[in-house]
Amino acid sequence: MQERLQQLQKDVLTSLQKAKDLKSLQNVRVEILGKKGSLTEVMKGMRDLSAEERPVIGNLVNNLKKEFENSFLSRQLQLQQQDIAAKLASEKIDVTLPGRRTASGSLHPVTLVTDEVVEIFSRLGFAVAEGPEIEQDFYNFEALNIPKDHPARDMQDTFYISDDRVLRTHTSPVQIRTMLKHKPPIRVIAPGTVYRRDSDLTHSPMFHQVEGFLVDSHVTFGDLKGILTHFLNEFFGDGYSVRFRPSFFPFTEPSAEVDIECVICGGKGCRVCGKTGWLEILGCGMIDPAVFESVNYDADKFSGFAFGMGLERMAMLKYGVNDLRLFFENDLRFLKQF
Ligand code: DAH
Repeated sequence: MQERLQQLQKDVLTSLQKAKDLKSLQNVRVEILGKKGSLTEVMKGMRDLSAEERPVIGNLVNNLKKEFENSFLSRQLQLQQQDIAAKLASEKIDVTLPGRRTASGSLHPVTLVTDEVVEIFSRLGFAVAEGPEIEQDFYNFEALNIPKDHPARDMQDTFYISDDRVLRTHTSPVQIRTMLKHKPPIRVIAPGTVYRRDSDLTHSPMFHQVEGFLVDSHVTFGDLKGILTHFLNEFFGDGYSVRFRPSFFPFTEPSAEVDIECVICGGKGCRVCGKTGWLEILGCGMIDPAVFESVNYDADKFSGFAFGMGLERMAMLKYGVNDLRLFFENDLRFLKQF
């Protein structure tokens, strides 16, 4: 029996040393002290020993058990430290590696220009309004004094969705939507996306406009000239001459187109202004009484002006961009410059 215990002692110590990780260490424990473990078996066999032998063997068994427990604990500690060391080695951070930059985006030039136009008009007390891009014929045409058989419908190259639904061809329908909801006095600026069946070097089927209008009692063409001249001076910088040319729009009477002295050549004449020294920049006029009628405003009590301009064109002139397509190609080399 004593020999058996000595052998067991040796086996126990070697298998503890052999256990390479915490899991196999637990297995060793089961092999020794589990229900069917080798030391458990020995303890069960003590029943059959004589009264003299029992205390002697019992003593040895207890010592062996204690020794096992101690060796088990120290081996466990060793393996745990080994684990931690391995983890530290594999997870270490190399602080000498170069950092990874998070690339920050920038605003699109058309967005920048939109924001600036809105800001200039906000300072003059204008509020921002929006309307849907899929618009009813009534708002896009009819209420703006463009009836079904009007030649101005052809000029607009409309995308029709159904008989009475279109992709809006301009931001002017926001005038109608706003005036139907609010009574004068109103001052509104309405930027947005518009669509036309037109695509070449200088036209894109999708582009952006900003509409502005003001309605009150006693609004005059002089007010319109004053506000737009102020706006153009703020936007392009002081010192450019501005001129108003008679024109026609169905929703304004009288109507005008506004030119600014060419901001590229300073009025001398260049390719951008077609050698005229002037750039056509927006359309405007006094709101036609027919428009007031369609929104139930009393044209005898109120008057107002309206204007509209293309934002890509504003951006091209402001930043000296000579190709419209650059705005829609998402080329980072272009976009990063703003
Ligand atoms: N809606 C016109 C267009 O798309 C632009 C415009 C001209 C708007 C004159 C106006 C205006 O409000 O008075 O070409």
